[in-house]
Amino acid sequence: MKITNTIKEVRKNVKAWRTEGLTVGLVPTMGYLHEGHQSLIRRAVKENDRVVVSIFVNPLQFGETEDLDTYPEDFAGDSKICASEGASMIFHPSEHEMYDEGFCTFTDMTGLTETLCGKSRPGHFRGVCTVVSKLFNIVSPDRAYFGWKDAQQVVVIKRMVMDLNMDIEIVACETVRESDGLAKSSRNVYLNSNERKASTILQEALKIAEKKIASGVRASHEIQKAMIDTISAEKEVKLDYAEIVDLKSLQPVNTIEAPALLAAAIFIGETRLIDNYIYGI
Ligand code: PAJ
Repeated sequence: MKITNTIKEVRKNVKAWRTEGLTVGLVPTMGYLHEGHQSLIRRAVKENDRVVVSIFVNPLQFGETEDLDTYPEDFAGDSKICASEGASMIFHPSEHEMYDEGFCTFTDMTGLTETLCGKSRPGHFRGVCTVVSKLFNIVSPDRAYFGWKDAQQVVVIKRMVMDLNMDIEIVACETVRESDGLAKSSRNVYLNSNERKASTILQEALKIAEKKIASGVRASHEIQKAMIDTISAEKEVKLDYAEIVDLKSLQPVNTIEAPALLAAAIFIGETRLIDNYIYGI
Protein backbone atom coordinates (compact mmCIF):
# COMPACT_ATOMS: atom_id res chain seq x y z
CA MET A 1 0.00 0.00 0.00
CA LYS A 2 1.33 3.39 -1.03
CA ILE A 3 1.06 6.45 1.19
CA THR A 4 1.31 9.83 -0.45
CA ASN A 5 0.83 13.49 0.44
CA THR A 6 0.86 14.84 -3.09
CA ILE A 7 -1.78 15.25 -5.78
CA LYS A 8 0.90 14.61 -8.40
CA GLU A 9 1.72 11.17 -6.99
CA VAL A 10 -1.97 10.17 -6.80
CA ARG A 11 -2.47 11.16 -10.44
CA LYS A 12 0.67 9.29 -11.56
CA ASN A 13 -0.53 6.07 -9.90
CA VAL A 14 -4.13 6.35 -11.07
CA LYS A 15 -2.92 6.98 -14.62
CA ALA A 16 -0.77 3.82 -14.50
CA TRP A 17 -3.72 1.78 -13.18
CA ARG A 18 -5.92 3.15 -15.96
CA THR A 19 -3.36 2.14 -18.60
CA GLU A 20 -3.65 -1.39 -17.24
CA GLY A 21 -7.45 -1.15 -17.56
CA LEU A 22 -8.04 -1.30 -13.80
CA THR A 23 -11.04 0.24 -12.04
CA VAL A 24 -10.59 2.68 -9.16
CA GLY A 25 -12.67 3.23 -6.02
CA LEU A 26 -12.35 6.19 -3.65
CA VAL A 27 -13.24 6.33 0.05
CA PRO A 28 -13.06 9.93 1.31
CA THR A 29 -12.50 10.22 5.08
CA MET A 30 -11.24 12.58 7.75
CA GLY A 31 -9.31 9.76 9.43
CA TYR A 32 -9.42 8.31 12.95
CA LEU A 33 -10.88 5.33 11.17
CA HIS A 34 -13.34 2.96 12.83
CA GLU A 35 -15.43 0.01 11.67
CA GLY A 36 -17.83 2.31 9.82
CA HIS A 37 -15.03 3.59 7.59
CA GLN A 38 -13.64 0.08 7.43
CA SER A 39 -16.90 -1.26 5.99
CA LEU A 40 -16.72 1.35 3.20
CA ILE A 41 -13.12 0.39 2.38
CA ARG A 42 -14.02 -3.31 2.42
CA ARG A 43 -16.87 -2.78 -0.02
CA ALA A 44 -14.73 -0.59 -2.27
CA VAL A 45 -12.00 -3.25 -2.35
CA LYS A 46 -14.60 -5.85 -3.30
CA GLU A 47 -15.99 -3.76 -6.16
CA ASN A 48 -12.83 -2.15 -7.61
CA ASP A 49 -9.37 -3.26 -8.70
CA ARG A 50 -7.66 -0.42 -6.82
CA VAL A 51 -8.87 1.64 -3.86
CA VAL A 52 -7.68 5.05 -2.70
CA VAL A 53 -8.56 6.14 0.85
CA SER A 54 -8.22 9.87 1.41
CA ILE A 55 -7.52 11.07 4.93
CA PHE A 56 -7.91 14.82 5.26
CA VAL A 57 -9.48 16.83 8.07
CA ASN A 58 -11.06 19.43 5.84
CA PRO A 59 -10.99 22.84 7.57
CA LEU A 60 -13.51 24.24 5.09
CA GLN A 61 -16.38 22.15 6.47
CA PHE A 62 -15.92 23.15 10.14
CA GLY A 63 -17.65 26.19 11.64
CA GLU A 64 -15.63 28.67 13.70
CA THR A 65 -16.83 27.26 17.02
CA GLU A 66 -16.58 23.62 15.95
CA ASP A 67 -14.00 20.93 16.74
CA LEU A 68 -11.43 21.38 13.95
CA ASP A 69 -8.57 21.88 16.43
CA THR A 70 -9.44 18.87 18.56
CA TYR A 71 -10.58 16.49 15.80
CA PRO A 72 -8.99 13.13 16.72
CA GLU A 73 -6.11 11.78 14.61
CA ASP A 74 -4.25 8.47 14.51
CA PHE A 75 -2.46 8.13 11.22
CA ALA A 76 -0.51 5.01 12.26
CA GLY A 77 -3.73 3.24 13.26
CA ASP A 78 -5.50 4.42 10.10
CA SER A 79 -2.67 3.09 7.91
CA LYS A 80 -2.92 -0.33 9.56
CA ILE A 81 -6.68 -0.46 8.93
CA CYS A 82 -6.33 0.59 5.28
CA ALA A 83 -3.56 -1.97 4.67
CA SER A 84 -5.47 -4.76 6.38
CA GLU A 85 -8.55 -4.06 4.26
CA GLY A 86 -6.52 -4.15 1.06
CA ALA A 87 -6.51 -0.46 0.05
CA SER A 88 -3.92 0.35 -2.62
CA MET A 89 -3.18 3.89 -1.55
CA ILE A 90 -3.71 6.44 1.21
CA PHE A 91 -3.86 10.05 0.09
CA HIS A 92 -2.99 12.17 3.14
CA PRO A 93 -2.49 15.72 1.90
CA SER A 94 -1.50 18.77 3.91
CA GLU A 95 -3.89 21.71 4.10
CA HIS A 96 -1.55 23.60 1.77
CA GLU A 97 -1.63 20.80 -0.81
CA MET A 98 -5.43 21.01 -0.93
CA TYR A 99 -5.92 24.75 -0.47
CA ASP A 100 -3.00 26.59 -1.97
CA GLU A 101 -2.53 30.29 -1.23
CA GLY A 102 -5.18 32.31 -3.01
CA PHE A 103 -7.68 29.45 -3.12
CA CYS A 104 -11.06 31.00 -3.95
CA THR A 105 -13.20 28.53 -5.91
CA PHE A 106 -16.01 26.66 -4.16
CA THR A 107 -18.64 24.08 -4.99
CA ASP A 108 -21.85 25.48 -3.57
CA MET A 109 -25.38 24.15 -3.50
CA THR A 110 -28.74 25.62 -2.54
CA GLY A 111 -31.83 23.94 -1.06
CA LEU A 112 -30.59 20.52 -0.04
CA THR A 113 -27.79 22.03 2.02
CA GLU A 114 -30.03 24.43 3.92
CA THR A 115 -32.13 21.87 5.81
CA LEU A 116 -31.33 19.46 8.69
CA CYS A 117 -27.59 19.73 9.55
CA GLY A 118 -27.23 22.62 7.10
CA LYS A 119 -29.41 24.76 9.37
CA SER A 120 -27.20 24.39 12.42
CA ARG A 121 -23.95 24.15 10.46
CA PRO A 122 -24.06 26.94 7.86
CA GLY A 123 -21.25 26.57 5.32
CA HIS A 124 -20.65 22.92 6.26
CA PHE A 125 -21.90 21.41 3.01
CA ARG A 126 -20.15 24.05 0.94
CA GLY A 127 -16.94 22.77 2.53
CA VAL A 128 -17.92 19.14 1.98
CA CYS A 129 -18.91 19.67 -1.67
CA THR A 130 -15.76 21.64 -2.37
CA VAL A 131 -13.38 19.07 -0.89
CA VAL A 132 -15.25 16.10 -2.37
CA SER A 133 -15.29 17.64 -5.86
CA LYS A 134 -11.56 18.30 -5.50
CA LEU A 135 -10.95 14.70 -4.42
CA PHE A 136 -13.06 13.50 -7.36
CA ASN A 137 -10.93 15.61 -9.73
CA ILE A 138 -7.68 14.41 -8.16
CA VAL A 139 -8.48 10.68 -8.09
CA SER A 140 -11.08 10.48 -10.90
CA PRO A 141 -12.53 7.25 -9.48
CA ASP A 142 -15.14 5.02 -11.10
CA ARG A 143 -16.95 4.77 -7.77
CA ALA A 144 -16.90 6.67 -4.50
CA TYR A 145 -18.15 5.29 -1.19
CA PHE A 146 -20.13 7.18 1.47
CA GLY A 147 -22.01 6.10 4.61
CA TRP A 148 -25.77 6.46 5.17
CA LYS A 149 -24.77 7.51 8.70
CA ASP A 150 -24.41 10.96 7.10
CA ALA A 151 -27.57 10.65 5.00
CA GLN A 152 -27.78 14.32 4.05
CA GLN A 153 -24.17 14.15 2.84
CA VAL A 154 -25.09 11.18 0.60
CA VAL A 155 -28.08 13.02 -0.87
CA VAL A 156 -26.04 16.19 -1.40
CA ILE A 157 -23.11 14.39 -3.06
CA LYS A 158 -25.43 12.38 -5.32
CA ARG A 159 -27.10 15.62 -6.41
CA MET A 160 -23.75 17.35 -6.97
CA VAL A 161 -22.54 14.49 -9.17
CA MET A 162 -25.77 14.65 -11.16
CA ASP A 163 -25.83 18.45 -11.48
CA LEU A 164 -22.17 18.78 -12.46
CA ASN A 165 -22.18 15.70 -14.75
CA MET A 166 -19.41 13.96 -12.86
CA ASP A 167 -18.94 10.47 -14.27
CA ILE A 168 -18.71 8.76 -10.87
CA GLU A 169 -21.01 6.22 -9.25
CA ILE A 170 -21.87 7.10 -5.66
CA VAL A 171 -22.23 4.01 -3.50
CA ALA A 172 -24.04 4.49 -0.18
CA CYS A 173 -23.25 1.97 2.58
CA GLU A 174 -25.18 0.96 5.68
CA THR A 175 -24.45 2.46 9.09
CA VAL A 176 -22.21 0.38 11.35
CA ARG A 177 -23.17 0.52 15.02
CA GLU A 178 -21.88 -0.32 18.49
CA SER A 179 -23.61 -3.26 20.19
CA ASP A 180 -26.02 -0.89 21.99
CA GLY A 181 -27.03 0.78 18.73
CA LEU A 182 -24.93 3.96 18.85
CA ALA A 183 -23.67 4.72 15.35
CA LYS A 184 -19.88 4.46 15.18
CA SER A 185 -18.33 7.90 14.84
CA SER A 186 -14.86 9.39 15.22
CA ARG A 187 -16.51 11.89 17.59
CA ASN A 188 -17.68 9.19 20.04
CA VAL A 189 -14.26 9.42 21.74
CA TYR A 190 -15.26 12.83 23.08
CA LEU A 191 -17.98 11.26 25.27
CA ASN A 192 -17.30 10.60 28.96
CA SER A 193 -18.97 7.54 30.49
CA ASN A 194 -22.18 9.38 31.54
CA GLU A 195 -22.47 11.00 28.14
CA ARG A 196 -21.81 7.69 26.43
CA LYS A 197 -24.71 6.14 28.37
CA ALA A 198 -27.00 9.04 27.49
CA SER A 199 -26.01 8.90 23.79
CA THR A 200 -28.11 5.78 23.19
CA ILE A 201 -31.24 7.96 23.42
CA LEU A 202 -30.67 9.00 19.81
CA GLN A 203 -30.96 5.44 18.54
CA GLU A 204 -33.82 4.78 20.96
CA ALA A 205 -35.83 7.70 19.54
CA LEU A 206 -35.28 6.47 15.98
CA LYS A 207 -36.25 2.90 16.96
CA ILE A 208 -39.50 4.19 18.48
CA ALA A 209 -40.19 6.05 15.22
CA GLU A 210 -39.38 2.94 13.18
CA LYS A 211 -41.78 0.85 15.27
CA LYS A 212 -44.55 3.41 14.90
CA ILE A 213 -44.14 3.39 11.12
CA ALA A 214 -44.10 -0.43 11.13
CA SER A 215 -47.37 -0.40 13.08
CA GLY A 216 -48.97 1.74 10.38
CA VAL A 217 -48.62 5.32 11.66
CA ARG A 218 -47.99 7.69 8.76
CA ALA A 219 -48.61 11.14 10.29
CA SER A 220 -45.20 12.84 10.53
CA HIS A 221 -46.21 15.11 13.41
CA GLU A 222 -47.08 12.12 15.60
CA ILE A 223 -43.78 10.38 14.92
CA GLN A 224 -41.77 13.58 15.19
CA LYS A 225 -43.38 14.30 18.57
CA ALA A 226 -42.47 10.81 19.79
CA MET A 227 -38.83 11.35 18.75
CA ILE A 228 -38.65 14.80 20.33
CA ASP A 229 -40.32 13.64 23.59
CA THR A 230 -37.96 10.67 23.87
CA ILE A 231 -34.83 12.77 23.34
CA SER A 232 -36.03 15.61 25.58
CA ALA A 233 -36.55 13.18 28.48
CA GLU A 234 -32.79 12.58 28.65
CA LYS A 235 -31.31 15.37 30.77
CA GLU A 236 -27.71 15.06 29.54
CA VAL A 237 -28.87 15.75 26.00
CA LYS A 238 -29.94 18.87 24.09
CA LEU A 239 -31.99 18.36 20.95
CA ASP A 240 -30.72 20.02 17.77
CA TYR A 241 -33.39 18.66 15.45
CA ALA A 242 -35.59 15.62 14.80
CA GLU A 243 -37.21 15.77 11.39
CA ILE A 244 -38.96 13.66 8.81
CA VAL A 245 -38.20 14.59 5.23
CA ASP A 246 -38.49 13.25 1.72
CA LEU A 247 -35.26 11.37 0.96
CA LYS A 248 -34.69 13.15 -2.35
CA SER A 249 -35.75 16.76 -1.69
CA LEU A 250 -34.94 16.72 2.06
CA GLN A 251 -38.11 18.78 2.55
CA PRO A 252 -40.42 17.97 5.50
CA VAL A 253 -43.37 15.71 4.71
CA ASN A 254 -46.78 15.64 6.40
CA THR A 255 -47.44 12.03 5.57
CA ILE A 256 -44.69 9.45 5.52
CA GLU A 257 -44.24 7.78 2.16
CA ALA A 258 -41.23 5.76 1.05
CA PRO A 259 -38.50 6.75 0.72
CA ALA A 260 -38.39 9.03 3.74
CA LEU A 261 -35.54 10.09 5.96
CA LEU A 262 -36.02 10.37 9.72
CA ALA A 263 -33.01 12.31 10.91
CA ALA A 264 -31.99 13.63 14.30
CA ALA A 265 -29.08 15.51 15.81
CA ILE A 266 -28.30 16.03 19.50
CA PHE A 267 -25.72 17.78 21.62
CA ILE A 268 -24.23 15.94 24.58
CA GLY A 269 -21.98 18.41 26.34
CA GLU A 270 -19.78 19.80 23.59
CA THR A 271 -20.32 16.83 21.28
CA ARG A 272 -22.81 16.82 18.45
CA LEU A 273 -24.08 13.42 17.30
CA ILE A 274 -26.31 12.57 14.33
CA ASP A 275 -28.20 9.47 13.30
CA ASN A 276 -31.10 8.53 11.07
CA TYR A 277 -33.53 5.88 9.97
CA ILE A 278 -34.42 5.54 6.32
CA TYR A 279 -37.89 4.25 5.60
CA GLY A 280 -38.41 2.40 2.39
CA ILE A 281 -35.11 1.66 0.66
P1 PAJ B 1 -15.83 11.09 8.02
O1 PAJ B 1 -16.69 11.59 9.10
O2 PAJ B 1 -14.44 10.64 8.35
O3 PAJ B 1 -16.58 9.91 7.31
C1 PAJ B 1 -16.08 9.31 6.16
C2 PAJ B 1 -17.13 8.40 5.59
O4 PAJ B 1 -17.41 7.35 6.51
C3 PAJ B 1 -18.46 9.14 5.32
O5 PAJ B 1 -19.00 8.74 4.09
C4 PAJ B 1 -19.32 8.68 6.49
O6 PAJ B 1 -20.70 8.70 6.22
C5 PAJ B 1 -18.81 7.26 6.68
N1 PAJ B 1 -19.14 6.77 8.04
C6 PAJ B 1 -18.90 7.39 9.22
N2 PAJ B 1 -19.41 6.67 10.26
C7 PAJ B 1 -19.97 5.58 9.72
C8 PAJ B 1 -20.68 4.45 10.26
N3 PAJ B 1 -20.89 4.32 11.55
N4 PAJ B 1 -21.15 3.51 9.39
C9 PAJ B 1 -20.94 3.64 8.05
N5 PAJ B 1 -20.28 4.68 7.47
C10 PAJ B 1 -19.81 5.64 8.30
O7 PAJ B 1 -17.84 12.34 6.19
C11 PAJ B 1 -16.71 12.81 6.21
O8 PAJ B 1 -15.66 12.22 6.88
C12 PAJ B 1 -16.34 14.07 5.45
O9 PAJ B 1 -17.44 14.92 5.38
C13 PAJ B 1 -15.79 13.79 4.02
C14 PAJ B 1 -16.82 13.11 3.13
C15 PAJ B 1 -14.51 12.93 4.09
C16 PAJ B 1 -15.40 15.13 3.36
O10 PAJ B 1 -14.43 15.78 4.10
